[in-house]
Amino acid sequence: MQQSRDGFSSRFGVIAAAAGSAIGLGNIWRFPYVLGENGGGAFFLVYMGFIFLLGIPLMLTEMSVGRAGQKNPYGTFRVLAPKTKWYLVGVMGVAAAFLILSFYSAVAGWTLHYLSDAVMDNFSGKSSAELKGMYDSFTSSAVAPSVWTLVFLFLTGLVVVSGVEKGIEKYSKILMPLLFVIIVILDIRSVTLDGAEEGLKFLFHPDFSKLDSKAVLEALGQAFFSLSLGMGTMITYGSYIGKKENLLSSATSVSLADTLIAVLAGVAIFPAVFAFGISPDSGPGLVFITLPNVFLQMPGGYFFSVLFFLLLVIAALTSSISLLEVVVSYFTEELKLSRKTATAIAFVSVGVFGVLSSLSSGPLKEFTVLDKTIFNLFDFISSNILLPLAGLFIVLFAGWKWSRKSIATEILGEGKQETTLFKVFMFIIKFIAPFAIALVFIHAVGLIDI
Ligand code: PFF
Repeated sequence: MQQSRDGFSSRFGVIAAAAGSAIGLGNIWRFPYVLGENGGGAFFLVYMGFIFLLGIPLMLTEMSVGRAGQKNPYGTFRVLAPKTKWYLVGVMGVAAAFLILSFYSAVAGWTLHYLSDAVMDNFSGKSSAELKGMYDSFTSSAVAPSVWTLVFLFLTGLVVVSGVEKGIEKYSKILMPLLFVIIVILDIRSVTLDGAEEGLKFLFHPDFSKLDSKAVLEALGQAFFSLSLGMGTMITYGSYIGKKENLLSSATSVSLADTLIAVLAGVAIFPAVFAFGISPDSGPGLVFITLPNVFLQMPGGYFFSVLFFLLLVIAALTSSISLLEVVVSYFTEELKLSRKTATAIAFVSVGVFGVLSSLSSGPLKEFTVLDKTIFNLFDFISSNILLPLAGLFIVLFAGWKWSRKSIATEILGEGKQETTLFKVFMFIIKFIAPFAIALVFIHAVGLIDI
């Protein structure tokens, strides 16, 4: 089975692809702001604690489950726990990937549009009010954002249709080093501006008074989303990792690379924002309004704005690839479709939902379900419900249902003695992770208001 299945061909390929999935818009527009808002260095310590305590163990679990099952998330649970209902966890993963990809590609479409604006020098000479006007009129129109969403999905599909080794791995190996180089260039520009210290202070100055329980849960939720956990991506990528690779070192490298890029993104953004005395915004406002404003005032702004939007596009693209691969691997393995047909069907169906998400900032703004626009509804269902639930069941599966021997075989190798680190890992998976994820879940669906 191993030979006939497409898979990653090198260790660097594994890390580039999985880090490509993890490093995305969540790192670049969300993490820096959340960090600054929630007590800087103090929040960072908690975040790092969660990465080590829960993020790495959960990523390791997902990769192990995937590599043992050798299939998409649904098929993997069918193989590992036949004649049980555990496959529903895989179904949740595939559904979450589908929904996340829908709204993710809508925003990713905006990043493509902004990249084209940056290349054509469309920001130049604009006041901040005009930049805000550009953003509002673009996002509220019907055609342009929908077209960009589809263009972005099409690019994602082009990579995925070429397969795991010749598509995902090949492009990740080019795009991830490029992303790293771009972010380092932006960092150097940002910290060498006069007045950059204010921004660094905003990011890193530890303010423990801001570290309430809400911030702690926020750190955990951010860690999960950022590491692409709970939605089948790491199970799917795990199924493509060769049996000889060391999963612990892969999961650790990917998690640390993800954290490093999140921090570097903060260093690229906030010192520049503060250096020009602009008040930091969050999310879309930060990257699409505040930053073009910053670039306009910065020496070499044209060059840096092109680089920045290219960075966003690359980050979004490699994450979307992993999401689309979850759906495509499900279609090819369970519905026995060719990769081409599966990608085409996924493109059309995600495209419909992606366009709906995109229209919900414009013509469909008033259309709400449960008081949420389509975009927010997809985000809520996937990030707040499916993701933590699937994550919870994955650890319950690995901790309580799967045989300890099987998980040890994936992590330590065939017939190896359990190490202390492995025992600690099992303790986390059995007792700590389920409890922590359940807490995030209860918080995220708003059942407890802390
Ligand atoms: N980890 C990505 C980010 O931080 O933007 C988002 C993401 C990608 C989440 C893939 C989940 C996933 F399966």
